[in-house]
Amino acid sequence: MRLVFVGPPGAGKGTQAKLVCEKYEIPQISTGDMLRAAKAGGRLPADLVAKMAAGALVPDSAVFSLIDERPQVADCAGGFLLDGFPRTAPQADALGKLLAARGQKLDVVIALEVPRDLLIERTVLRRTDKRTGQIYHLKYSPPPPEADLEHRADDREDVVKKRLDTYEAMTAELLPYYEGRGILKRVDGVGSVKEVTERIFAALGA
Ligand code: AP5
Repeated sequence: MRLVFVGPPGAGKGTQAKLVCEKYEIPQISTGDMLRAAKAGGRLPADLVAKMAAGALVPDSAVFSLIDERPQVADCAGGFLLDGFPRTAPQADALGKLLAARGQKLDVVIALEVPRDLLIERTVLRRTDKRTGQIYHLKYSPPPPEADLEHRADDREDVVKKRLDTYEAMTAELLPYYEGRGILKRVDGVGSVKEVTERIFAALGA
């Protein structure tokens, strides 16, 4: 199964990706996580750190080189779930070419849809356990007392609003791109985590 999750910040891509990857036993490949890991390791150039902190996208070329280096994408042995990539039509074209060169293609693109007000609440109150990567929410999914929490630098409300504007301006072009190829499935992302997971599995025919 070769999947892509598309959706605005806070739509639940990371939360749902973990559950879907467990079921299908495929790797989750998150460009946001890869960029944050590169930043934490001091390997992300300062201009890209600044772009992320400002809520802008990093250049297509930088993201694509991260993806190109991932053996799970290159080999596609048991499939993969791409979370947050592609985000632009040029990224989608580049991914299509990478897969076509191996005689492969995407199976499904899941677009998670959530209204803007709820996206702001979800991101601003999100916390992640530094040690496990588990995603929590101070209201909807409270962390246990032993969790070692971090608040993402780009989850401040002013930056979240810029990220949402960026998504609307740049990523919205992806939906018609994949709709035209007949592989887009829109999924309502409002409801409990379990309800949304069930909708995704239904969309995947599981
Ligand atoms: P990235 O890390 O990909 O962030 P994002 O797309 O903005 O998405 P988020 O991680 O904010 O949200 P999510 O949809 O995963 O939601 P989550 O499951 O955590 O990208 C960060 C930055 O990196 C970008 O701004 C850009 O600069 C750069 N970047 C990354 N990829 C790039 C690319 N391809 N091209 C260019 N630049 C790129 O859930 C959010 C919260 O809600 C959590 O607290 C969770 O517990 C809670 N929650 C989830 N589901 C529910 C539910 N059903 N009910 C209640 N609460 C819920």
